[in-house]
Amino acid sequence: MISPHHTLLALCLFLAGAFVVRAEPSFKTPVSYAEADRRAGELLAKMTVLQKIEMISGHHSFYTKAFPELGIPAFYMSDATAGVHIRPNVSGSLGKSTSFPAPIGMAATWDPALIQQVAQSIGEECRAGGIAFLLGPGMNMYRQSQDGRSFEFFGEDPYLCANMIGHYVTGVLETGTIPTLKHFIGNESDWHRRTSDSVIDERTLHEVYMVPFKAGIDAGAMAVMTAYNQVNGEWAGQSHTVIHQLLRKDLGYKWLVMTDWWSVWDAEKIIKSGQDLEMPGDKFLKADAYRLLKEGKVTEAQIDGMARSVLRTCIAMGLYDRPVKDSFYLERYPEHAATALQTAREAIVLLKNRDHLLPLRKEGAGTILLTGTFATEMARGGGSAQVEGYDNITLLDALKSAYGKRLEYVESPTDAQIRSAGVVLLSTGTRDTEGADRPFALPDPEEKEALRVTSLNPHTVVIVNSGGGVKMTDWNDQAGAVVYAWYPGQNGNRALAEIFTGEVNPSGKLPITIERSFHDSPGYGTTMPPGAQFYTGWGPDNDMSQPIHKVEYKEGVFIGYRWYQEKDIKPLYAFGHGLSYTNFAYSDLRVAPGLLRPDGQVTVQFTVRNTGKVEGTEVAELYVGQPQCPVPMPKMELKGFSRVDLKPGESRVVSLRLNPGDFAYWDVATHAWKTASGEVRLYVGGASDQIALRGGFALK
Ligand code: BGC
Repeated sequence: MISPHHTLLALCLFLAGAFVVRAEPSFKTPVSYAEADRRAGELLAKMTVLQKIEMISGHHSFYTKAFPELGIPAFYMSDATAGVHIRPNVSGSLGKSTSFPAPIGMAATWDPALIQQVAQSIGEECRAGGIAFLLGPGMNMYRQSQDGRSFEFFGEDPYLCANMIGHYVTGVLETGTIPTLKHFIGNESDWHRRTSDSVIDERTLHEVYMVPFKAGIDAGAMAVMTAYNQVNGEWAGQSHTVIHQLLRKDLGYKWLVMTDWWSVWDAEKIIKSGQDLEMPGDKFLKADAYRLLKEGKVTEAQIDGMARSVLRTCIAMGLYDRPVKDSFYLERYPEHAATALQTAREAIVLLKNRDHLLPLRKEGAGTILLTGTFATEMARGGGSAQVEGYDNITLLDALKSAYGKRLEYVESPTDAQIRSAGVVLLSTGTRDTEGADRPFALPDPEEKEALRVTSLNPHTVVIVNSGGGVKMTDWNDQAGAVVYAWYPGQNGNRALAEIFTGEVNPSGKLPITIERSFHDSPGYGTTMPPGAQFYTGWGPDNDMSQPIHKVEYKEGVFIGYRWYQEKDIKPLYAFGHGLSYTNFAYSDLRVAPGLLRPDGQVTVQFTVRNTGKVEGTEVAELYVGQPQCPVPMPKMELKGFSRVDLKPGESRVVSLRLNPGDFAYWDVATHAWKTASGEVRLYVGGASDQIALRGGFALK
């Protein structure tokens, strides 16, 4: 897969080197835009101004307002991206929901088709619970490891993230549920997020942060949620530049926009920004919109436009013509659990495996000592994206059923116990949550335990549960193996056990770079003010008395591996890295044609061979570099990838296609995409730092 399948439908218009991409969404709404608009207009004509103001304000925290006398129902919205967050006090209608691996783990699968299945499952559970809007997928970027919400998003690469989002949105839409792209835009840290100002230049917005939103919109997304933070000096949810210009004009988005919960502060600005719906709706519009209208500061037409957008979106999805709730979907839970398990199998990344310490076969001998934080506690992210799941399997339970009596669980093992164990499995990590950032370093007791255990027994496998990168630098060399398991969902520990026993061969690859020290990261010194302290809890998150602090996206387009490569900084683990129990060899790179016209396509072919003794899956990665571009370009950028299943000795030709959009940069002079002629370099391999094949062609 070389680009979101949706962009294949794109019609590219080339105008003197600049081009505009207009994509036809792949999803067709049950009711056409024009018809929905007509019906919305009819309803609007029957509404009073006060009713319209209620229509553009949320109700009871998670609902749109109902007007039974006009035949307008209320619609329920529920978080989030890794499954349905159940709020017993609000909905009461969905008894349980499947907990899937956190989105960062979904990205580690590099398997968009599987993520579409995940999204379909979540959409089906929304239908089972009468949830009209899913408040996800989240698609902010991983620009720094300290972000408490990284677990909710899809990693550091816009191309990989966009691929996932396109498929995710399609999966949800096909169930008749409306997915909500969030948070538009620049919400890459949660430290005092309401009083932060993300300073991002125009080119970076278009080339990095808006790319996943474009993929979601191209797939047909019908709701977008704005962010808490300011963007270049104005709160995103009331910024005309953010909503009217970037979202509606530049990305061509035409459906409903809603605020994040309590994230806007000025009714006049909200009304004039292109925003449609204030959530949860108990504040500014209800209090001030009518007065502003009477004072002539806003017009009824502006309020009509907002209400019409809310009505039109719901009508277009068919929500007025069928029940939202459908108990048929209650029967689908077993399939959803199976999809969650498969996702976890593909999401887990084997970072290191000295002397083939793993797998630990079931029939082997020797004691396996399990210890650490998430042996008995389910590792999951917190906040609105938290999903409890059901039939949760702890790591201890999963490993007990794999290894029986060989497995010994010791909560606080002595040095002697660690030394004498055949193998030690040490579980560590972080409890990431919305509303606060967290240090890159592990919590002190976790770090000390990792140092102690890995120094006492070289046969230690460290299992990390976290929503992003953590500091492993000081014990990584001592560890025998390191496995990154993210927050793997309700049955993810079973997948982990299958990987330990060798029943499943790991295939996940990092969707992020893991730095050696936070000083190395582009987030260092550009996110939290110098000397600032981390905090926990919702109090500081809601504290609006803080001065606005600037989050300077100084690295520009050099996000993630682009930064480390540009600065020549060696990370601990590079983007795209992940080991298997077998090995793969790459050969025979072929590129055709050798000269690309601006509207043409290039086919890149190469062979991947399984040179080891067990069956495995390789994620083959294709990166592109444009050294002659008139603007500074990253050395290489991901523009294609493919999962390749191979039996021992088997080889396969992988064919990837590059489209003109893959070589475009955002030209700030003309505010448009442009392509630069010149040399294009191609890099193919199993990780961003494991390039096996190099080639290139010329762009005319
Ligand atoms: C979060 C959103 C979420 C909303 C509703 C906010 O705190 O930032 O992501 O959808 O709450 O739960």
